[in-house]
Order: sequence, then structure tokens, then C-alpha cells
Amino acid sequence: MSNETPESSQRVLLITGASSGIGAATARATCAADWRVVLAARSHDRLRALAEELGGEERALAVTCDVTDWDAQQRMVEAALSAFGQLDAAFANAGFGGPRGFLADTPEHWREMVLTNVYGAALTLRATIPALTRSRGHLLLTSSVAGRRVLPGSLYSCTKHAVTAMGEAARQDLHGTGIRVSLIEPGITDTPFFDRRPSEALRDEDIARAVLFVISQAPHVDVNEILIRPTAQQL
Ligand SMILES: NC(=O)c1ccc[n+]([C@@H]2O[C@H](COP(=O)([O-])OP(=O)(O)OC[C@H]3O[C@@H](n4cnc5c(N)ncnc54)[C@H](OP(=O)(O)O)[C@@H]3O)[C@@H](O)[C@H]2O)c1
Repeated sequence: MSNETPESSQRVLLITGASSGIGAATARATCAADWRVVLAARSHDRLRALAEELGGEERALAVTCDVTDWDAQQRMVEAALSAFGQLDAAFANAGFGGPRGFLADTPEHWREMVLTNVYGAALTLRATIPALTRSRGHLLLTSSVAGRRVLPGSLYSCTKHAVTAMGEAARQDLHGTGIRVSLIEPGITDTPFFDRRPSEALRDEDIARAVLFVISQAPHVDVNEILIRPTAQQL
């Protein structure tokens, strides 16, 4: 007997931060498992190339969206619903880091990072919850190991603690709607997140497989958190 549910080929996953790294790998893994995907980020050319690779507009829709812009987030969800008619899962994954040390980074970069990682993720939740309520769908947020333990001098770590709290706050808020909420908490993963690419790191497809595991559970199973480190990472 097949493990596939009958409607699996109909399901639609929206991913922010889909132009690169974990988001792009998740799009590839979920498309291969018969999901359709909505790819959102600022780099339209990269999104379009990925959408083509994944089979074109029947399977993958590229939507330019700066997650710090509420109007753009609303347009993203409208485009998703207009193309595919439903939203079954949304992955608030867009984000970036910066140098550690409270004197190291610029205030302008801090502002962009906090707006993207925290406000942007909250806007993605806000924009997608109505459609996910209709589908009894699934919300996922990319936090981090840095959202579970404090890194010295890292405002990035503070933003990811906020995302960790946001996941649990949303889970409690959405209790009774049928929406599941899951935090994805990667350790060091080799993506363009890092200016100097790390060695002995996870690969983006390792995280993508975890996302696929989380969204492939039966409706009564909510994997609330999944924390994944490379074997070589101590802290
Ligand atoms: N790599 C790691 O070790 C690691 C560990 C833990 C958690 N994470 C988290 O994983 C998530 C994905 O990062 P990654 O490692 O895959 O890095 P990445 O390859 O640099 O991907 C970051 C993605 O976020 C998008 N993005 C950034 N700012 C945006 C904005 N304002 N609006 C829309 N999209 C925006 C980027 O696309 P555009 O530039 O095209 O907009 C890109 O698609 C982030 O939240 C990161 O904090 C990463």
C-alpha cells in the first residue's frame, strides 16, 4: 500500500527566502515529493530560474517579495491563491545574520536584520493564517540553534530567540484551528548565509529533508520543534 495520501499532489507550500540555501533546497525536496511551491524572495531572476528548473508554473510560482513589506506579503499570498487556489503550508524562512559584537555591526544593518528576521516572519504568519485556517494547514518558521542558545554579542541570536518564541506563541494562538506550527532549528549549514563557507557543516538538503518530514505527518501530529546540528558542532 502506498504511503501517499490521495491529495498529496494537490498540496501547496509557500516558502520565503526561496531564492537560495535552505529555502531553495526545500523547494526542490518538496517538489520532488509532489508538492507545488510558491517561491518568494527579492531576487526575481533566481526565483524564476528555480521555478523553471522545478517544472514551470504548473509546479512552481516565483513571486518577488521583500518580507519587510506588508503590501508585498499580501500580494504574495494573493498570487499564490490565484495560481493554485489553496495554501497548505507556509515556511517563514527568509533571514540573514551579521557580525557578532554589539559594537561590530552598523545600526542600519541591525535594523534590516531585525525587520527581516522578526517583523518579516510575523508578517508572513499574518498574511498566510487566513488561507491556512481554511486548509487546516501548517506553519513553519526557521529559527536556529542560535534561537535556542545565546551567542555572545549576537543580535542575530536575539532575533532567532524571538522567532522561537513566535512559533510557540502562534501555536498557542492557533490552537483549535487545526493549523500545526513547527520550528525548524538548523545548526551550521553550508549556504550563502556565510561569507566564508563553513566546513563540517550540514548541507541545505539536510534541512530540506527535515522540513519534508515535518509536513508529511498525519494531521493529528504536530512536530513542534526540530533541532539539527552537524555531528561536528559542539555548541
Ligand atoms: N545557514 C545556517 O547555518 C543557518 C543556521 C540556522 C538558521 N539559518 C536560517 O535559515 C534561513 C535561511 O538561510 P540560509 O542559510 O538558507 O541562507 P541564504 O542562502 O543566504 O538564504 C537566505 C534567503 O533569505 C532571503 N531574504 C533575505 N532577506 C529577505 C527579505 N527582506 N525579503 C525576502 N527574502 C529575503 C534571501 O533571498 P533574497 O536575497 O533574494 O531576498 C535568501 O533566499 C535564515 O532565516 C537563516 O537565519 C541558517
